Amino acid sequence: MYYPDEIIEEVIARNDIVDVISSYVRLNRRGSNYFGLCPFHNEKTGSFSVTPQKRMFYCFGCHVGGNVISFIQRYENMSFTEAVKLLADRAGMKLPESDDPEAKKREDQRSLLLAVNKEAAKYYYAQLRSEAGERGLKYLQGRGLTDETMRKFGLGFARSSKDETYRYLKSKGFSDDLLNVSGLFNFRENQGMTDKFWNRVIFPIMDTGHRVIGFGGRVMGSGEPKYLNSPDTPIFDKSRNLYGLNIAKSSKAKNLIVCEGYMDVIALHQAGFDQAVASLGTAFTTQHANILARYARESVRQGEIARHKEILLCFDSDGPGTDAAKRALVILHEAGLRAKVINMTPHKDPDEFIKALGAQEFEKRIEEAENGFMFEVRMLENEYDMKDPSGRSAFISDVAARLLRFEDQVERDNYAGLISYRYDVSKDGLAELISKQALSASNIRIAPKPIPTRKEFLDTADEASRLPQGRLLSWLCDSPELYTVVSRYISADDFADPLYRKVAQLMFDQLQKDGPDPAQILSMFPDEEDQRRIAEAFHSDVGKLDNIKMKEGALKDLMINIKRLSLTRQDRDDNGFDAIKRIRKELEQLESADIKLNQ
Ligand code: GTP
Ligand code: MN
Repeated sequence: MYYPDEIIEEVIARNDIVDVISSYVRLNRRGSNYFGLCPFHNEKTGSFSVTPQKRMFYCFGCHVGGNVISFIQRYENMSFTEAVKLLADRAGMKLPESDDPEAKKREDQRSLLLAVNKEAAKYYYAQLRSEAGERGLKYLQGRGLTDETMRKFGLGFARSSKDETYRYLKSKGFSDDLLNVSGLFNFRENQGMTDKFWNRVIFPIMDTGHRVIGFGGRVMGSGEPKYLNSPDTPIFDKSRNLYGLNIAKSSKAKNLIVCEGYMDVIALHQAGFDQAVASLGTAFTTQHANILARYARESVRQGEIARHKEILLCFDSDGPGTDAAKRALVILHEAGLRAKVINMTPHKDPDEFIKALGAQEFEKRIEEAENGFMFEVRMLENEYDMKDPSGRSAFISDVAARLLRFEDQVERDNYAGLISYRYDVSKDGLAELISKQALSASNIRIAPKPIPTRKEFLDTADEASRLPQGRLLSWLCDSPELYTVVSRYISADDFADPLYRKVAQLMFDQLQKDGPDPAQILSMFPDEEDQRRIAEAFHSDVGKLDNIKMKEGALKDLMINIKRLSLTRQDRDDNGFDAIKRIRKELEQLESADIKLNQ
């Protein structure tokens, strides 16, 4: 790891988790914990918890969890090191220089790549304003962009030379290796490095911290490909970035507009809609949805009341655009977000719409935006012969099946009401269709499953074993005094799950010394999924145990469970057969033991 453990520990210790999270999420105290609306998924119930004693957060709804560092990483979309830096700053700590050469190299590469992009962006920017860039400037002006807009988006120009950008960046001292991973150049044995972008207007792509992480380039006029984009690099992941979000994130508008292209975002911003973003050169992803979810929930930094922004889809009105909108609606729904769809007919995209009809008309279209589900249903009409009675009832059945997607009864009823009104079907008839569909959907689930693959089998086994292992870790964390008894029967080695085994080892070490510190343990697992599972374990429900007898019984059952699972472990270092013999014996002892918790 980049920083020594003591430093990480100090960063965690000096940033009170309740303090830090309160500046992003409104928290209410309940007992010794705090609760609020989860910033990582859409909810109305307040499943998001912060436990000062564990120095962890955990959402009982979406199961995201971690310590104060992981919170910042997730919320601010930062790397581990960036989050540590932010928190160290916040606490007025000075961080030492790194001593892990590998991590340092990675970190250095990231900052060097950012430096390359920044330098390239400055270069393209200057070119657009030079004599050589006149064609580019004319093109952009021809598309109605003002100087101010061009400046705001840092637009630039790449000249028609094969390697001018390359030579410029070389002159700035960047190495070939670095320039090669920057994605700005093509490399061929016989040609060496050549510029990827030439004779194009350039759109720098920025992250939410306004740092240039990639580029898009458009031909001026017609030509193929119309747009070229930077490939994914160590600092650019298309599925996690939205064009324009660096500006849109501070918009005061009541909604967020998602459109398809660079020019759409820019035209919208110029027309005053500074809440527009676009997913670029890639389909809309779950990660995009999660990022939107975060910004759709206004932060309460200034003590404002939390408010939800509407998500408005403004994809092209053509076939591919409509299909993309339908897919995005499903992805957003799964991420817990509901969206509306802006109708731009008779125009193709927001850029063309605004040019033809102006900002005021667009504002009207925003107000008239159609509910996402009703949009989906309207599009579905095209797939049935609505004039034919049997076509119509097939259509209604299809709609009923789609209504099942709404798990919330009230929400589903509301939509059913709308459908029955719009398509003139009786509410009872529709309700009946819905339950029929629900039945056949559950029939599908009961139908014999194919024989699971080995991986699937291991995954389900995993699921069942997770519970007792997590529960013991969580219980020990809440009641460290149990460790004396537990350690008599259970060792870290008994944890069948490899991740929980590591956690148990660290935890048992802590229990022998200063007591449990789950936040510290968490910081040793950089992987997001690992962190999620660890947070989940430490938040397992131990159940309500009113008296000591129940406690003793529950603890014994739990330990027996874990010991049994321990028998299924296949990856022991020592001779497997001997190990099994030994554990069998330990299990017998445990089963006949009289567990006493004296208090
Ligand atoms: P303009 O013609 O400049 O108004 O662009 P547009 O946004 O109307 O174009 P279109 O709807 O065709 O494309 C939407 C987005 O898809 C663009 O902003 C690009 O990000 C991406 N895109 C379009 N054409 C290409 C292409 O040829 N290659 C790649 N990689 N991406 C493209
Ligand atoms: Mn366009």
